[in-house]
Amino acid sequence: MIVRYRFGQPIETDAVLTKPAAETGEVRRFTVHRPGEPVEHEHDRSTEVSNPGEVEGNPLDASNLTDLLFFTYTMDPDDIVYGLGEQVRGINKRNFTYVSRCMDNARHTEDRHSLYSAHNFFIVSGRETFGAFFDTAGIISFDMGETDIDRIQVALEYPDCDLYLIEGEDPTDIVRQFRALVGRSYIPPKWAFGYQQSRWAYKTEDDFRDIARRYREAGIPLDAIYMDIDYMERYKSFTVDRERFPHFEKLTAELKGDGIHLVPIIDAGLKVEPDYDVYEEGVAENRFCKNAAGEDFTLGVWPGHCHLVDVMDPDNRRWFGDQYKKLLDLGIDGFWNDMNEPSIFYTEERLAEAYAKVDELRQGELDLNTFFDMVATFSGLSNNPADYELFYHTIDGKRVRHDRVHNLYGSNLSRAAGEAFCRLSPEKRILLFSRSSMIGMHRVSGIWTGDNMAWWSHLRLAVCQMPGIQMCGFLYCGPDLGGFGSDTNEELMTRWLQFSVFTPLMRNHSASRRAQELDTFKHVDTMRHIVELRYALLPYLYSEFVKASLADDLYFKPLAFEFAGDERARRVEDQLLVGESLMIAPVIEENARGRMVYLPEPMRMVRYRALDDYDTENLAAGDHYVSADLNEMVFFIRPGHAVPVAKPAPSTQAMDFDHLRVLANPGDAERITYTLYDDDGYTTDIDAPEHFHTIEVTASGARCATKQVELIG
Ligand code: GLC
Repeated sequence: MIVRYRFGQPIETDAVLTKPAAETGEVRRFTVHRPGEPVEHEHDRSTEVSNPGEVEGNPLDASNLTDLLFFTYTMDPDDIVYGLGEQVRGINKRNFTYVSRCMDNARHTEDRHSLYSAHNFFIVSGRETFGAFFDTAGIISFDMGETDIDRIQVALEYPDCDLYLIEGEDPTDIVRQFRALVGRSYIPPKWAFGYQQSRWAYKTEDDFRDIARRYREAGIPLDAIYMDIDYMERYKSFTVDRERFPHFEKLTAELKGDGIHLVPIIDAGLKVEPDYDVYEEGVAENRFCKNAAGEDFTLGVWPGHCHLVDVMDPDNRRWFGDQYKKLLDLGIDGFWNDMNEPSIFYTEERLAEAYAKVDELRQGELDLNTFFDMVATFSGLSNNPADYELFYHTIDGKRVRHDRVHNLYGSNLSRAAGEAFCRLSPEKRILLFSRSSMIGMHRVSGIWTGDNMAWWSHLRLAVCQMPGIQMCGFLYCGPDLGGFGSDTNEELMTRWLQFSVFTPLMRNHSASRRAQELDTFKHVDTMRHIVELRYALLPYLYSEFVKASLADDLYFKPLAFEFAGDERARRVEDQLLVGESLMIAPVIEENARGRMVYLPEPMRMVRYRALDDYDTENLAAGDHYVSADLNEMVFFIRPGHAVPVAKPAPSTQAMDFDHLRVLANPGDAERITYTLYDDDGYTTDIDAPEHFHTIEVTASGARCATKQVELIG
């Protein structure tokens, strides 16, 4: 059951498809504080500490609560809080404050309150179990027991939102109801489930040919190579540098013939440059955000001075979406949208302040305070929240300052693209994922988790982020595997790759000094075997992904979602259920050669080294130390479940999805039934009955009326 409460006059976010009528009675579960009312428990623990460069804190801390709309809920000590999507820390979100304020934040350390997205949905599970979705375009903070260990406190910068309270049997039921409310999750083409290679370093046609050739020579399957900003002419979105890519269409076609898709980046900031058609048209047709004086607002990003399209206007969204046609026409069928928080490196206003400060400080001698003041001024130049107060959108004919709708920007920009693909390519799904997002965008796009580091802690973070992100609707997601910043090493890469076998987006992307294409490591065979496992599992992974989308379900689940009564399972943060049949327990510790695994039920463990070199073992429920050398990975098949597998090929396009083998763990069951989803990889007619295949497994073998299947040990 879902109940909606309305506060103030929220700006429409389009997150919810059909809104239930608003309730007028007292709000359930939460105590509501309206702006101006006295505040009973004010815990202001903050002292004056200046942290140079930290412009990112919690803007809604306890010091200004009286003026805010906020909601409190008292948790039981045993309650677990799930959700909030892309944020730092664990699966259980208790004890920290998370702020939905889309930020270009390249430091995903555990003290960071905000990353790139705004995912305002969480579930309390325990003494009472319910979900809450705060539908607002504004900045909102979720103090999940940081100020008071037992108290959730949700505060909004502006007192306008729809609160949806979702009552259900258990977290899975609540997720389903929530997702039905916000609509079906985006499903990319099948090739987007293959292995993908990226690096902010490929600059010429030959660089791309070279990567393709190296993967093919190393025998490592590959479905896509990413084009970072250097393919563009002077970082202008929707252009191609014809000096470095004179035969772009030929390159695209040639690689596609080999099953490899080129996926270009699109940046939000549109360069101010005469004769750049997007700029000229945007100015002429009045499509850009305005400053206070009503002029096109200027910010600095990669290309230098840029404008931002006003994506709050549906007509501008359509215009921006239509720009993608330029690349679709060149044979491109996948995109990643970046810098759309929107990221602001600088504004002239903030630069002027900084220069003035330097001029002033230059007059005297720097002391401790003035020195740090100067450092803070400069490190606060980029992505300064004050810059979000400098420009305006037009919504329904009214001027609205950006900060009121900040969290919608990236979301609406990617929505513009996703909606354009439905128009421009109605019969063929196009790959799209975005760095910034808000719930609602999940209907047309996936996300990646931005600029992580080649750190073990970030491998662990990725494991914890996946289920929370998916609860908020973004089923197609993944981290930059191997780590985007700082240098990776072979051991970290191997373990990360092993985990990424299961993430819907499996993309190796980096900007580090050390290259991290898989063939650059000593044990290339190990890397190949891991990627081959991904391809072998594709029938299962793709099927589980699409079925999760169709059923508003999760593809990655915390153990607690299936084993709610098991106190041990409820606390597990480093194992995940993947679809209906698998559990994973990735090794995420440096130099470990195994790990403890908790089995909430007896499972069949597969210890995999290569397609023709694996063993299986039936393990009882309980704790196990499971060894896993660096070239080994383990995963577990749940009792009464089956996993269809295929023969890997250099790309998904070259694979045979009609002749499958089946791995199974019968447990006590005499007969197992698995529903396989499969399609041509592109169709937009996802629901068609011919895409569903029933596989039956009994002691005598596997059977399927529409695919050839064979049971394997
Ligand atoms: C941003 C993106 C990163 C990309 C870089 C250059 O940092 O998050 O993925 O490589 O910009 O375009």
